[in-house]
Amino acid sequence: MSAAETNAAPWWKTAVYYQIYVRSFADSNGDGVGDLQGIIGKLDYLNDGTPNSLGVDCLWLTPFYESPNVDFGYDITNHCSVHPEHGSLADFDRLVAEAHRRGIRVIVDYVVTATSDEHPWFAESRASRDNPKRDWYIWRDGWNGKPPNNWIAVSGGRGWGLDPATGQYFYHPFFECQPSLNWRQPDLRRAMLDVMRFWLDRRADGFRIDLLNHLVVDEQMRDNPRSWKGWYAGRFQQPLCTRDQPESHEVVAAMRTLLDEYGEKMMVGETSSFPWEPSQAHTFVNSRELNLAFNMEFFVYRFQAQKFREVVDRYERVAAADGWPAWTLSNHDIPRHFGRYGGARIIYGERADAVARARVCAAMLLTLRGAPFLYYGEELGMTNRWLPRRWMKDPIGKKSWPLFSRDCWRTPMLWTPGPGAGFTTGDPWLPLDPDADRLNAQTAGARPDSLLNFYRRLIWLRKELPALQIGAYEPVAAADPAVFAFRRRTANQSLFVALNFTDRAIPVAGAAGGNVRFSSEPWRTDAGARLTLAPYETVILEE
Ligand code: GLC
Ligand code: CA
Repeated sequence: MSAAETNAAPWWKTAVYYQIYVRSFADSNGDGVGDLQGIIGKLDYLNDGTPNSLGVDCLWLTPFYESPNVDFGYDITNHCSVHPEHGSLADFDRLVAEAHRRGIRVIVDYVVTATSDEHPWFAESRASRDNPKRDWYIWRDGWNGKPPNNWIAVSGGRGWGLDPATGQYFYHPFFECQPSLNWRQPDLRRAMLDVMRFWLDRRADGFRIDLLNHLVVDEQMRDNPRSWKGWYAGRFQQPLCTRDQPESHEVVAAMRTLLDEYGEKMMVGETSSFPWEPSQAHTFVNSRELNLAFNMEFFVYRFQAQKFREVVDRYERVAAADGWPAWTLSNHDIPRHFGRYGGARIIYGERADAVARARVCAAMLLTLRGAPFLYYGEELGMTNRWLPRRWMKDPIGKKSWPLFSRDCWRTPMLWTPGPGAGFTTGDPWLPLDPDADRLNAQTAGARPDSLLNFYRRLIWLRKELPALQIGAYEPVAAADPAVFAFRRRTANQSLFVALNFTDRAIPVAGAAGGNVRFSSEPWRTDAGARLTLAPYETVILEE
C-alpha cells in the first residue's frame, strides 16, 4: 500500500528536520567553537540508516559565514563563504557529500533582510549619498534632529541608526549593526539571488530564510500606528508598515522560480516574529512561494492540550490547499520548550513530570500533519542554562534582559560524560549544561526509557506509516479537553492519535479500536473496549 503513496510526495513534505546551531554542535579542533568538520563526525548519530540513530532527514545549519559575530553569524560580511572558525568551503562540500551519502539533506540559512554593517556593500553604501550602492540599503533624512519615523527594531529600541558622515539615517530591523537591505533595488536583488545560486551549485538542498516577514518595508515610510493592544518589542505599536508587506510576495516568488531550476529543493521561511501571534505566515506557503513557513504559535502557550489544538485547528483552516504546515517548539531564539513546560532548572528546579511532558511534545510534533522541526539537544531534554550576565555573549542579554539571554538555550550539545561533554576537548565558548553527565547522548542512548530513545522510536515509526507522513488531519473530540486527539488518514490507512497532557488517567471518546502501533507505556498491547490513557500517555492506533 504505502510506498507508492509516500514516494509520490516530495521529500520536503515527509522529512523530519533538525536544526543545528553550528557554533554549539560539535567542535573538531579543540578551540571551543563548533564547526562543519564536527558535524560530519556526528552524522551517524543523526541518521545512519538504522533505528539506532535519531533518523532525521534534513539538517538546517544556522549561519556559518564570515561575520564579526555580534549576532553570531546573522550579521554577515560575506554570504558566499565559511567563517574560518567553522571551517572552509571544502569542509562544506564534504559535509554535504557525507550527509547525502546517508540520505540526509542539508539546508542553509539565507539571511536576506540585513547584512553586517561591516559588509563591503554597506561600506560602499555609507561612503557617500551618491555612491552607486547607496540605495542597496534604506537611507532617509531625519526630521527635526530625529529619525525619519517611529519604526522600532524587533530586538528592541529604535529601528534607525544615524550615519554622522553623510547625515542620514539607515533602517535596521534588528540590531543597529545589521542595516536593512533594499529589495526594491534591482542590482541588490540580483546579487542576493546569486547567493542562492552559489549554495545550490554547491549542492545545498535549500534554505531557511531569515526574518522574511521583514524583507520589505513601506515605501512611503509611514509611521507604524500606535496601539495599546499591540505590545511589540517593548513599544505599543503595530508593525503594519514594517512587516508582511504585499511586495514581499513577489520577491519570494522570484526566489522560488530560481529554486525550482535546481529540481526538488525547498525553502522554509521565518515569517513570524515576536510575539508570534497568528501571523500572515500561511499566505507565503503555496506552490509559487515558500514550501514551508514555521508556525511559531506554540511558543506563546503553556503546556495545554486545548491551546495547542486551537493553534493546529486554526492553521489547518487557513492553510492554502497547496500549502503544508511546519511545526516547531524550540529554536535558537526562544527558551527551550523543555524548560518552558516544566524543566526550567534555572530557578525552580525540574518538575517531576518534565520528561513526561517532553515526550508528549515530541509525540505531538512528530504526528501532526506537516513538517516537524527539532532543535538540537531537545531529544536529550536539554534545557535553558542559567548564566551570570558576565558570561552572556548575545547583545540582547547583555543589555536589556537581565535574567535571560539567547545564550541560555544555545549551550553546547552533550555527547558523552566527562569534561567538555564530547563537544570539545578545549574550553567551550558557552558553559555546558550542569546535567551533562546525565543527559548526554551516549548515556541516554544506552537507557531504553530515555527521551532520546523515545524520539528515535517515533521518528522511525513515522517512516513506516504513510498516514503519519502525508495523511490528512482530522480533529477528534476526545470528550476531555486535556486530551489532544486527531486522525491522520490516507486512502489506505487511518490512524488515531491521542495525547494526554495531564498526570491523570483519562478515558477517551472517539477511538474505534484497532492495533496499537505506538504507546509511551511499555505495557500497552491493546486499546481495550474503551481506551483509557495513562497519565501523559501517547497512543497511536491503526484503525
Ligand atoms: C532571526 C534569527 C535571529 C537573528 C535575527 C536577526 O530572527 O533567527 O537569531 O538574530 O533574525 O538576523
Ligand atoms: Ca572548532
